Amino acid sequence: MKKILVAYYSLTGKTKAMAEYIAEGVRIGGHDAEVRKISEIGAGKDLDGYDGYLFGCPTYHRDMTDNMKTFLFLAKTADLKGKAGGAFGSHTHSGDAPGLIFDTMEHVFKMDMGSLGPFLLKEQIVDTDEGLRACQQYGRAFAQQLQVE
Ligand SMILES: Cc1cc2nc3c(=O)[nH]c(=O)nc-3n(C[C@H](O)[C@H](O)[C@H](O)COP(=O)(O)O)c2cc1C
Repeated sequence: MKKILVAYYSLTGKTKAMAEYIAEGVRIGGHDAEVRKISEIGAGKDLDGYDGYLFGCPTYHRDMTDNMKTFLFLAKTADLKGKAGGAFGSHTHSGDAPGLIFDTMEHVFKMDMGSLGPFLLKEQIVDTDEGLRACQQYGRAFAQQLQVE
């Protein structure tokens, strides 16, 4: 069983809900998932000991949030090269943040980003059955990618 960190920021709770549903999907896929707020992660060494990393934040002003940018500078001090990665977040219209986070994980941290791409969900459906299922499916697919490595 591999261990996945789901680290997120959420202002109004939508991306938090996504993080929890995605973690459920990872567990359904047969792996362990730990959900943490990025504010609880104070040093690069706090990122040691995981086999995969899913980072999430909502889109505000067509960007990732400032605290996610700060977190990514912290994550740069951890050795994430070659580790499995993914990015997610809630939005209303443009949904830029997951793609921007994904881009940093792929091109700066040189992580293995698999074939799923960034996962974004419109906030109107996060708390519906459709939203729950979509998040669980993403988590499960991420877990399944780990199994074929
Ligand atoms: C001031 C403000 C700016 C926003 N800018 C964007 C934006 O540029 N693109 C977008 O898709 N959503 C935008 N949103 C919508 C948020 O991404 C959306 O409400 C999201 O679900 C919030 O997630 P959270 O509950 O995890 O904080 C904005 C919301 C606010 C309040």
